[in-house]
Amino acid sequence: MEDINLLLLCCCLACLIFRSSLDPDSNSAEVTAQKLYRAFRKRWLQTETDIQLSSCLNATKKTFVNQETIPKEFESSVNLAEEIKVKSRLRGTIDWAPPRFQIVFNIHPSLKRDAVVAAQNFSCAGCGTPVELSKRLRYCDYLGKYFCDCCHSHAQSSIPKYYVSNFSKHLLCSIWHNPIFNVSCVNKTLYTKAKELNRAREIQEQLLHIKKLLKSCRFAESVLKEFEQVSSHLTTELHLFSMDDLVKIKQGLLVPLLKDILKSSISHVENCELCQVKGFICEFCQSSDVLFPFQTAICKRCTVCKACFHKQCFQSRECPKCLRIAARKMFSEAASETGLL
Ligand SMILES: *[C@@H]1O[C@H](CO)[C@@H](O)[C@H](O)[C@H]1NC(C)=O
Ligand SMILES: *[C@@H]1O[C@H](CO)[C@@H](O)[C@H](O)[C@H]1NC(C)=O
Ligand SMILES: *[C@@H]1O[C@H](CO)[C@@H](O)[C@H](O)[C@H]1NC(C)=O
Ligand SMILES: *[C@@H]1O[C@H](CO)[C@@H](O)[C@H](O)[C@H]1NC(C)=O
Ligand SMILES: *[C@@H]1O[C@H](CO)[C@@H](O)[C@H](O)[C@H]1NC(C)=O
Ligand SMILES: [Zn+2]
Ligand SMILES: [Zn+2]
Ligand SMILES: [Zn+2]
Ligand SMILES: [Zn+2]
Repeated sequence: MEDINLLLLCCCLACLIFRSSLDPDSNSAEVTAQKLYRAFRKRWLQTETDIQLSSCLNATKKTFVNQETIPKEFESSVNLAEEIKVKSRLRGTIDWAPPRFQIVFNIHPSLKRDAVVAAQNFSCAGCGTPVELSKRLRYCDYLGKYFCDCCHSHAQSSIPKYYVSNFSKHLLCSIWHNPIFNVSCVNKTLYTKAKELNRAREIQEQLLHIKKLLKSCRFAESVLKEFEQVSSHLTTELHLFSMDDLVKIKQGLLVPLLKDILKSSISHVENCELCQVKGFICEFCQSSDVLFPFQTAICKRCTVCKACFHKQCFQSRECPKCLRIAARKMFSEAASETGLL
């Protein structure tokens, strides 16, 4: 259960919010509302730290959250909102700031509805329509804000249980397949808490190594085709996931697929002469079994010379290959100094 919740949390990393700057000097009529508002604002401002986490989004995809790249449909909804805002102003109603795009990495704190609505200046977060004009308010799980029933039609996000506004639904759809979330950067403990996610990472690590090996083998064409069953980022980068990946992992659909690809790949390497000669013999024990970097459970790789050894053979001892290289270098230097070379 814990795992499922955590993976949901991971999905919620992708909570997408409009962020409006909150004015501390706003004069609301109700004192209680003001108090609630201040309490809300304090917690709200804590999410400033999320901005730092935006470095966890893969760089190339960052433009996705820039205002300039907002798809047309959003622009028009913002324009509509802007229009309503102007009309609201003319009617002398509460100020409403147009939304700003941002991806946050935490679950919204559960706050009292009144506090949230007060912080929204008693207007719909999507269009600015004053609350009293729209009696039915609906909560958007992604934005953590309330919307009028026009802007929120009870759409379920692709993650069950979560109901989101029209805006969030569209936004989520548009980023759904983009590998923009770096789990290692966002929160590494997710791996220890969500077993399936960790299992995916373990298999991915092996796939990364074996794919490199297969790419250098001219007999591996058919097995490399199998890699096309999954998005290429899953077998070329670690820690990088799309919302789609995370949901599929949670549903138990991705790990079996990755396992199958790994199985076919290993079977190829075991039976391929070309691949076999690219393996390593452990220099510590000189055992005849060939070692490969993808055997992450038994193989330890020297970070300097990239040679592979049995994990239990290596321990904390120094790499024999590196020692050999160093000795050879020392010998040749000494030899050249004494003029022997
Ligand atoms: C992540 O960003 C780097 C450059 O910053 C890019 O080369 C790479 O393709 C991106 N990865 C994915 C999976 O989009
Ligand atoms: C609430 O109104 C104030 C001014 O009255 C404005 O500065 C602020 O941005 C508004 N907040 C939201 C969430 O629209
Ligand atoms: C929200 O989505 C529903 C269902 O897709 C649609 O009927 C409604 O018109 C949308 N609201 C707005 C303001 O676009
Ligand atoms: C993911 O984040 C980790 C830790 O910040 C970083 O070392 C790694 O390069 C990142 N991966 C990608 C693909 O951006
Ligand atoms: C990471 O996630 C764990 C488990 O959900 C949580 O306890 C911890 O506070 C998180 N760390 C950060 C830096 O968000
Ligand atoms: Zn609305
Ligand atoms: Zn091969
Ligand atoms: Zn060994
Ligand atoms: Zn070495």
